[in-house]
Amino acid sequence: MKKTISKQQLALYNGTDKDEIWIAYKGKVYDVTHSRLWRNGQHYLHWAGQDLTEELADAPHTEKVFEKFAVVAVLEG
Ligand code: HEM
Repeated sequence: MKKTISKQQLALYNGTDKDEIWIAYKGKVYDVTHSRLWRNGQHYLHWAGQDLTEELADAPHTEKVFEKFAVVAVLEG
């Protein structure tokens, strides 16, 4: 079982407050710390440390981009 984290806890993984950078999509939390495309928690005007499920609709890519990243937690709620 993955641990469950709250939105408040996730918010700390924004590229500033903690060393790791995490993003949530459809209830799963991914570690994108090592992605060059998420450096400093920023990705084409999208910010890490949050649930970005709704925002994927703005992206030029599909959810396939998540495949190579480890799921580190499950988002509460
Ligand atoms: C204006 C919006 C966005 C633009 C222009 C954009 C652009 C890109 C580009 C060019 C890539 C490179 C690889 C590829 O195309 O497959 C990429 C990768 C990625 N994007 Fe986005 N994206 C946007 C929004 C989002 C959103 C909202 C999310 C999260 C829900 C997201 C998550 C990712 C992830 C996880 C990767 C893979 C990074 C890697 O492989 O290191 N993107 N994006």
